[in-house]
Amino acid sequence: MPEALHFIANRWVASDKSPTIPVLDPSDGQPFTKLARGDAADIHHAVSAARSAFEGDWGRLSAAERGRILYQIANTLAQHHEALAQLEARDTGKPLKQARADAAAIVRYFEFYAGAADKLHGESLPYQNGYTVFTLREPHGVTGHIIPWNYPLQIFGRSVAASLAAGNACVVKPAEDACLSLLRVAELAAEAGLPPGALNLVTGYGAEAGAALARHPGIDHLSFTGSPATGTLITQMAAEHHTPVTLELGGKSPQIVFADADFDALVPVVINAIVQNAGQTCSAGSRLLVQRDAYEPLLERLAAAFSVLRVGPASADLDCGPLISARQQQRVWDFLSEAQHDGIPLMAHGEVDPAAPEAGFYQAPTLLRDVPPEHRLAREEVFGPVLAAMPFADESEAVRLANGTLYGLVAGVWTRDGGRQLRMARAVRAGQVFINNYGAGGGVELPFGGMKHSGHGREKGFEALYGFTTLKTIAIRHG
Ligand code: NAI
Ligand code: MG
Repeated sequence: MPEALHFIANRWVASDKSPTIPVLDPSDGQPFTKLARGDAADIHHAVSAARSAFEGDWGRLSAAERGRILYQIANTLAQHHEALAQLEARDTGKPLKQARADAAAIVRYFEFYAGAADKLHGESLPYQNGYTVFTLREPHGVTGHIIPWNYPLQIFGRSVAASLAAGNACVVKPAEDACLSLLRVAELAAEAGLPPGALNLVTGYGAEAGAALARHPGIDHLSFTGSPATGTLITQMAAEHHTPVTLELGGKSPQIVFADADFDALVPVVINAIVQNAGQTCSAGSRLLVQRDAYEPLLERLAAAFSVLRVGPASADLDCGPLISARQQQRVWDFLSEAQHDGIPLMAHGEVDPAAPEAGFYQAPTLLRDVPPEHRLAREEVFGPVLAAMPFADESEAVRLANGTLYGLVAGVWTRDGGRQLRMARAVRAGQVFINNYGAGGGVELPFGGMKHSGHGREKGFEALYGFTTLKTIAIRHG
């Protein structure tokens, strides 16, 4: 794969200007390649290529033909699974087993949406006598996709595969901190037979290439996953042209544990939901709400499990890798020093492997207890391996705490009481509720997205296809 180029209309393309962005390996902090620093001219080039594809070869294909191409992409990505996983691990720092899971997930996204492409249809509607009325689900046209650095393969998969299945042409701006796997995916999609211009990828900084994409008048729909602050900026820019926006803005997702829960089942799941991807997961289970009678015994169990967690380079494939960047590491450190300053007890932490390179962006998984519900650590997304525990008395307090942040993405409820399972599932304001399990980032088939500040619109599952289409009603008067 060549260095510092965009991928537009199935060709490697240099930026109009020559500046580049260095790519650091989070495991050792050292630069190892560079990216093209795209600007508005590069975005315009990509949007024009997408428009030509939509109005040309790609747009003319039948739904079944699009599905067949998406299957070919899935097969090609599956053949390159290990190489993609290695690239993702190097670029993001995630342990190899997590990168392998992500490389498998993107294959599943392309398979799922390949099969869905020719099953998306409108309806016929009852109306006045003498009329036949039906709806068509049509693609928007050119869709923009601004992807974050935490799960490049997965988030690209869920958004681009769905958009292509619906018949759109895509322009993607991946995150400057993690692009490499996606450049390779774009190249492999071209090899698999995707017509030129159906998928275009421009690398660059958010404020440059990202903003140019968000405000481009030729974008018919925009998908964004990232921080709430950037989500607001993007919405404002998109509003200039009334471009519809789907936003996924993270969460402060609670694990709600009642005293009758099965500890053996929940301990590994609760740990994984905050340690996976070093806590840099929009759906990380980052708050632990525990019924008071079970609070001490459960925290003891979790403390023992936290203290044996090991952190190291992606290639060492330990429990946890480094954070994505020095900036993200500093963000986590700031949260932790605030916790210390405010007297929040540190219950347990894992260890960074002594062999891990000094300059890597490491942070040991950390369990904090008795976090006051109004504290920043109980309300804001740390985006690091930090679990904030607090007790609750009864079901109504559990609901109040669970719903007590601005977010509403995912929740886990742990109880053996069937009635309580359903009451909690209905009372918690979150886009996904798991009962006696938790799926951080999982579930290709399951609609996913937020309530409140976690965003709007749904990705994943069949539901995502509705967001990537617009509905046309056709009314025929025939007497
Ligand atoms: P960010 O939201 O700024 O970046 C996400 C994507 O948006 C990247 O591709 C970036 O280049 C792009 N972007 C940034 N500014 C833009 C702009 N003005 N116009 C258009 N595109 C823009 O997130 P960042 O700064 O990387 O991370 C900061 C925090 O955001 C994290 O600590 C975490 O809390 C949260 N975050 C949440 C994610 C999630 O999955 N929900 C993913 C990434 C970050
Ligand atoms: Mg990187």
